Amino acid sequence: MAVSEYLQRNRERSLEELNEWLRIPSISAKSEHRDDTARAAEWLAGRMRAVGLQTVDVVATAGNPVVVGEWRGAPEGAPTLLVYGHYDVQPPEPLDEWNSPPFEPVVKDGRIYARGSVDDKGQVYLHLKAVEAHLAENGALPVNVVFLVEGEEEVGSPNLGKFLQEHVERLRCDAVMISDTTMFAPGLPSITVGLRGLAYMEVRVQGPATDLHSGAYGGAVVNPALALARILSQLHDADGRITIPGFYDRVRELTQEQRDAIAALPFEEEGLREEVGAPALGGEKGFGSVERIWARPTLDVNGLLSGYTGEGAKTVLPARAMAKVSMRLVPNQDYKEIERVFIDHVKSLAPEGVTVEVEALHGGQPWFAEPEGRLFDAAKRALARAYGRDPVMIREGGSIPIVQSFQETLGAPVVLIGFGLPGENAHAPNEWMSVDNFHQGAEAIAALYEELR
Ligand code: BES
Ligand code: ZN
Repeated sequence: MAVSEYLQRNRERSLEELNEWLRIPSISAKSEHRDDTARAAEWLAGRMRAVGLQTVDVVATAGNPVVVGEWRGAPEGAPTLLVYGHYDVQPPEPLDEWNSPPFEPVVKDGRIYARGSVDDKGQVYLHLKAVEAHLAENGALPVNVVFLVEGEEEVGSPNLGKFLQEHVERLRCDAVMISDTTMFAPGLPSITVGLRGLAYMEVRVQGPATDLHSGAYGGAVVNPALALARILSQLHDADGRITIPGFYDRVRELTQEQRDAIAALPFEEEGLREEVGAPALGGEKGFGSVERIWARPTLDVNGLLSGYTGEGAKTVLPARAMAKVSMRLVPNQDYKEIERVFIDHVKSLAPEGVTVEVEALHGGQPWFAEPEGRLFDAAKRALARAYGRDPVMIREGGSIPIVQSFQETLGAPVVLIGFGLPGENAHAPNEWMSVDNFHQGAEAIAALYEELR
């Protein structure tokens, strides 16, 4: 097949282009990288024009720009697909744990090592490769395609909801396609039908007006670090359940059928333990790891700060302590409601002698969809063609805050086809994407366009 041959002939060049993009440190969390994120957007827009998209715009927002690229030359009545992804990446720290610099991609043992390789530049770029192959070989695509690639996904997509509202007409489509997730196992194609939501909070505890000598004052002044530790330690019970009143009110419980389907997947608890390198796994009582990650809400501490943490010892009673706390949510929890019950509860736990402030930093709704419809069926066939076996339906524990809004605002079904792999180190040092999956992913998407014909 010509399209597939085109992709194979151009593998080297495709990878080199991706590496060029990966060299741009488009870190959305850090304002000093604003120019880099803008450069990453322009780079992508340039590639979209080069492969023959008809209209390509880099649209300014209150934050980082959104790249919109359209090809609308399909025959009358053909469906329109919206391809969503993000060109921003997570901060690479801690740098000394990388085996090669995060923004100098290295291909080794069939993996592309770089920040953003799998999350999400590699997965976005393979879609553009599929389009390129069709346009180069056939001069056309069987479907209309609109790319929407944003630069703020990793900071909670604060400006994309508004962008959607303002561009509803331009973004109107029959289905949304996203590659920003993982396959359940190597060689096992996967369609993701559920994502968790997120409520991300910052807790600040203030004690005395300034740091104090812990000998001169310790024992007579409440220690904010200990106060914070006590608050945090009360947020779970002995069974690993979250103690915030109202937290579980709207949680949709797993059905027996869903639990059976999870149990039927090829998964070993010990394999996960080895993957993460912890001495043992742990979580809410009564559930396996896959259930805990896919379908149970959680509360995690993402960061803690207080007092003296440098070399040696310093006898000090710190003036303040801070924690970053995030909760992953499942249908039908609502992140606004969870923010409220969290704030109320944490404040109620504040001991006398300190003040506690809680701020919601960002959030997103959980998402779950029934795998049905024309795009789903086509995606199943295309993945089976590219990988030689039928895809499995999975959920994932991560979040893509805008997914639920796509469904609501555009009224279109969303299909998530991930080409990441377990252990890919997304958000961690030594992130990688499988080179085979980059190429096979492009094949699968190219096949999907044909299946939709
Ligand atoms: N690609 C991830 C989403 C993801 C993570 C899917 C794990 C499947 C498994 C996405 O880029 C991401 O990291 N999202 C953030 C969103 C947050 C910053 C609002 C996340 O989940 O932490
Ligand atoms: Zn991410």
